[in-house]
Amino acid sequence: MQIQELKLLNFRNYEKLQMTFQDHFNIIYGKNGSGKTNLVEAIYVLALSRSFKQANDKTLIRSGTDLARVEGTIKDKYTNTYKVLLTSEGKKVKIDNNKITKISDYISKINIVLFNPNDIKMIKDTPSIRRKYLNIAISQLNVEYLKNLNQYNKLLKARNAYLKRMYLNGNSLESYLEVLTEKLITIGLEIYESRKKYIDLMNSFIETIYQKIANVGTLQLKYCSDFASKNKEELLKYYKKNLSKDLTFGKTTFGIQHDDLEFYLDGFLLKDYGSEGQQKNAVISWKFSEIEIFKKEKEVTPILILDDLFSELDQDKIENIFKFLTNNIQTFITTTDIEKVENYLSNQEYKKIYVEKGTIKEA
Ligand SMILES: Nc1ncnc2c1ncn2[C@@H]1O[C@H](COP(=O)(O)OP(=O)(O)OP(=O)(O)O)[C@@H](O)[C@H]1O
Ligand SMILES: [Mg+2]
Repeated sequence: MQIQELKLLNFRNYEKLQMTFQDHFNIIYGKNGSGKTNLVEAIYVLALSRSFKQANDKTLIRSGTDLARVEGTIKDKYTNTYKVLLTSEGKKVKIDNNKITKISDYISKINIVLFNPNDIKMIKDTPSIRRKYLNIAISQLNVEYLKNLNQYNKLLKARNAYLKRMYLNGNSLESYLEVLTEKLITIGLEIYESRKKYIDLMNSFIETIYQKIANVGTLQLKYCSDFASKNKEELLKYYKKNLSKDLTFGKTTFGIQHDDLEFYLDGFLLKDYGSEGQQKNAVISWKFSEIEIFKKEKEVTPILILDDLFSELDQDKIENIFKFLTNNIQTFITTTDIEKVENYLSNQEYKKIYVEKGTIKEA
């Protein structure tokens, strides 16, 4: 799939923008702070209705204004226009001018794989960050997944509130808690299965890809979940056994809300033993594996965004990465060093986009 046209209104440091892209390589270059990341962030927001940055949606709206709009034409089997409107009250999404009320129906349509230097936190940070990466990846493949996740979070909140109530108020109904628990387990198992499937798929690609990028090392992922190898009956028993603990803590202490993902390089936990370079290679390998999963599971080639990937990498590694960048995947590369990137693109067609203070000059 390709993005053919992008229109922005009051998005970050862009007041107004309208531009077209090449189907293959688009190189966005300019000085620090000019708006390169903002431009690819807009493409990401168009696809997922939110940023890859942690910050609030409001930061996407150009300061001093109160509405931002991102609009784009995406070519896949069909060509459609997508629109994301952001205001301080919330957001709206549209496909071909039809309002989509459920975000979960919107975000599996445009498929994106994005690398940003901050993604290293996927290795280093807490389990909740890794769950987030996993959730975003799976939501793009499977519309039901995000619906299940939303429902699970609602049930979890209700169950936690009821636990607190039971603790304070002796005559609450244990049978009501059982109903909540049973539902939580049913949906939790669906989420577990989706995550397990995704990580199995990851493992079928990531080892080879890591070797092609880093030249040496065996990378493997491990899915860690309270739900691992347990069926519904066994899980019901676990929740029963945990009830007094849950009541004391006033929350559900067991479940897929604690899931984690571990990266192992040659058998060692990458988070604790890996070097910076190895961790970065693992993240890049994850991203290229995401592409393979989209191809295999959905028969689509996603849009690839490489934000500031090449700045700290040595020549060998950049060469290895460029081997993956065949011209049948639309790729956006941002850089401050255009010559460096152009060296690797010598016999490919590409579009050069120069950014300066939120304005674009196309070469
Ligand atoms: N909501 C906003 N309104 C106006 N300007 C904004 C907003 N959010 C960010 N900016 C501006 O955007 C600029 C940063 O843009 P961006 O992150 O795209 O830079 P970049 O070209 O990727 O730089 P680098 O090479 O350092 O990564 C900053 O000058 C910042 O002040
Ligand atoms: Mg940037």
